[in-house]
Amino acid sequence: MQRTIRAVAGGLIAVLVLLWGTVWLAREAPNSAVGVAVRGVAGLFGGAAAPSAGIAVPGGVQIGGPFHLVDDQGRAVTDASYRGRWMLVYFGYTTCPDVCPTELQTMVAALDKLGPEAASVVPLFVTVDPERDTPSVLAGYVKLFDPRVVGLTGTPEQIAEAARAYRVYYAKATPKGSSTYLMDHSSFVYLMDPQGRFSALFGQGSSADDLASGIQERLSQKS
Ligand code: NI
Repeated sequence: MQRTIRAVAGGLIAVLVLLWGTVWLAREAPNSAVGVAVRGVAGLFGGAAAPSAGIAVPGGVQIGGPFHLVDDQGRAVTDASYRGRWMLVYFGYTTCPDVCPTELQTMVAALDKLGPEAASVVPLFVTVDPERDTPSVLAGYVKLFDPRVVGLTGTPEQIAEAARAYRVYYAKATPKGSSTYLMDHSSFVYLMDPQGRFSALFGQGSSADDLASGIQERLSQKS
């Protein structure tokens, strides 16, 4: 039984890594043969077919779940702390040179487009680099984008728990000749409903319009 569970979990992670890889490759090399082929693969998952509605997740894949973290004010929080609001969740780190700032800007721009409805959405930026991203470092960073964004950190074990729940891939990477490390990480925006259940997944490169319309669609279904 244990073995079956492990095999199934491994398979699901492989699907998400493949998904992440295809989205990334298609973005890095949009006009190459690889990029074109890869967009075809991404299309199988619905990534290309329904950008505003988010990426289709294969049936039965569980995304999200309990987490125990520390917010950017140093308070212990869990997933239950945000019940009653939609969570817009992104995993990244504050010294990320490019992808994280871009995605955070997109999230904030999407909230701006939602107008007053954005009040029911809490944007969460979960660090995959808890070693450097302390609560105060996170606070200084996320508030640069928007005061509504909440930074979350924790012990390495707590971050690993949250990342596992959201099937986030992350790993330290030290470029040759560098004394500091970067973090490789998957880049998805997750929308969770007010009960904490998975609602939608948006790939890297989704526009603020894609995000806003995808969120809007789900908000209106629930109300
Ligand atoms: Ni990043």
